[in-house]
Amino acid sequence: MKTGSDVRNAPEKQRSATPRAAGARGNETAAQAPAVLPPLPWAEDALAPVISARTIEFHYGKHHKKYVDTLNELVAGTDLASESLEAIVLATAGDAEKKAIFNNAAQAWNHAFYWRSLKPGGGGQPGGELARRLKSAFGGFDTFKRAFADAAIKQFGSGWAWLVLDDEELKVRSTSDAELPLTSGEIPLLTIDVWEHAYYLDYQNLRPDYVNAVIDKLLNWDFAAENLELA
Ligand SMILES: [Fe+2]
Repeated sequence: MKTGSDVRNAPEKQRSATPRAAGARGNETAAQAPAVLPPLPWAEDALAPVISARTIEFHYGKHHKKYVDTLNELVAGTDLASESLEAIVLATAGDAEKKAIFNNAAQAWNHAFYWRSLKPGGGGQPGGELARRLKSAFGGFDTFKRAFADAAIKQFGSGWAWLVLDDEELKVRSTSDAELPLTSGEIPLLTIDVWEHAYYLDYQNLRPDYVNAVIDKLLNWDFAAENLELA
């Protein structure tokens, strides 16, 4: 039963469970700082040798943290400060005057989603409903894999490759810079970060080697299945 206090404290908009971290709960500064740096779902060295601890240390501890910190600075004292990360992304998308807020909010969202898209001992082929839908959409897992790798490898400059659910059909997408499928109504299931900071320490300019290794050895199909189930 809701109490008066619950009602007063209830967010005006539904807060996203993903990836506005569980760390925000019980964090008394959350109302002033809408974005939090969520804990990694695994140890920094857990993805090695595909992604080194050194890469994760910089990528998570410097890049991801910087997006979160900058976002909090940009929205401090504004109406957006009490909104969820996802709500900020959707509220600022396409608004040239709020481009900096969008970029940092979207990158905070994207990175939290990326960490959960990877797991030690991942890769391989999914089963169940995902396998059925991949076969329906792409003709088979190998065709999907080539399409996903192509989207990641051929994305010009910085960006992201995505497996999304669009109108009940699985599709592969790529986006530039901080852009993400949420703004076009698609539901992300998995992503691969193809900004150079994601792979340069380990692979230098060899993005295809990074992408193929991530797909073969790290993709978290359990996370994709959870996202599909929640869609
Ligand atoms: Fe990144």
